[in-house]
Order: sequence, then structure tokens, then C-alpha cells
Amino acid sequence: GDVAVLVPAAGAGVRLGPGAPKALRLLAGEPLLVHAVRRIATAPSVHTIVVAAPPAEVEAVRQLLAPIAESTVVVGGSTRQASVAAALAAVPAGPEIVLVHDAARALIPPVLVEAVAATIRAGHDAAIPVLPVIDTVKEVSADGVVLGTVDRSALRAVQTPQGFRRAVLAAAHASAVDALTDDAGLVEKQGVRVTCVPGSPYAMKITQPFDLALAEHLLATQPE
Ligand code: C5P
Repeated sequence: GDVAVLVPAAGAGVRLGPGAPKALRLLAGEPLLVHAVRRIATAPSVHTIVVAAPPAEVEAVRQLLAPIAESTVVVGGSTRQASVAAALAAVPAGPEIVLVHDAARALIPPVLVEAVAATIRAGHDAAIPVLPVIDTVKEVSADGVVLGTVDRSALRAVQTPQGFRRAVLAAAHASAVDALTDDAGLVEKQGVRVTCVPGSPYAMKITQPFDLALAEHLLATQPE
């Protein structure tokens, strides 16, 4: 394999309700992070996995993942971006393709990992999985009045894993000023062209209790 996958898993998961950090919430009896890492490790291109864990859970995460896949666990940061930077710093020499995958996207299909990696291998600097936007989208003022309707046909919902040539991601993180919600955003600011590949509904981000229930159902009815 020529691919390192960074897994930011240090978020609190406030939107899921009170409880453990999100990556450690249970889905079909196992933490979201365990599902995600097991699926990532199944992708043949993957050589290295680095997980950024909540500071208080680093040792627990090491023990959880030891039977699942070979991985390195580092201390996460106070923002997603800081967690990704910490994981990136722990990638050994070797892999020239780096993917970043949210632990919260626990049902990630290994074929999507391969598709993103293949796009970078083919010569692109950055690649992201996207889906069309299903709902009509409106811009709304703070007090709830519609300001306008956005042209949905030009919009995409963005998932992970996001893939990068290693040097491109490292340069983007080295010069990052403000915290963004994804890594492609940092790379875009560097003027790097980001290529879209078709995403998957299984790569959904498990954010709210509804998503957890849906993921349980998907696992129970179609395990892969
Ligand atoms: O909060 P959000 O849904 O954007 O989090 C996306 C991913 O980033 C999650 O997997 C979460 O665990 C991770 N994260 C992190 N460190 C933080 C905040 C979020 O690794 N400080």
C-alpha cells in the first residue's frame, strides 16, 4: 500500500446527546471508530492508519484498535484541524498519498477509500467524495427570513475520505490560519485544484441520534 489514512476521532459529539466522545459511541455494540478503522484497513492500498483520539482516551483507543488493525494513536487537538495536523505529523516516511477520514463516517465503504486514493495516484493533487444536494437550499437571515434560493444544481454535499498528495496536505496545514471544517478547504485556499469523485450514502456522517438509528438499520440489513 502507498496510502496513509488519518482518522480525526477527538470530537465530543455534542449533537449526539450526552455521553462518551462521539467516536466511542456504540453502533451495533462496537464504537464508531472501530467500525471505521476496520473498513479502512480492508482497503488494499492502505499502508498506515493514524488516529487522533480524545486526550483522555488515547490509551483506551490503543487497546480498542489493537485487535482490529495496526495503527498509531496520537493525542487529538481542540479543533478537527488540529487533530488532523497531529495525525499528519505522525505519518512515517513512505506513503505519498494521504487520506483524511472522519471516524463519525463509520460505514465507509472500502471501495470509496480505493476510489479516492486512485484519483490521487492518477496525478490529481486533491480529491473529495461528493453527493448531489437533494433538498432545495435557501439562504436565510439570522431571524429566519428567506433571503434567496441557491441554485442546487451547482452544489454538492462533501464527504470523507478526502485524499491528497502528501506534500500538498502538509503545505496546506503548515500555512493554515483559520480553522475550517474540512481539509480540502485548506488546500483550496492554497489555490490547489480539488477533484470530485462520486460519494456514497454509506459514507454519511453519524451526527445526530437519527443517523445512529439509520446506521444500525443499515448494518443489520446489509452488513457490507
Ligand atoms: O464535529 P465534526 O462533526 O465536524 O467532526 C468531524 C470529525 O472530526 C469527527 O470524527 C470528530 O471526532 C473529529 N474531531 C477531532 N478533533 C476535534 C473535533 C472533531 O478529531 N477537536
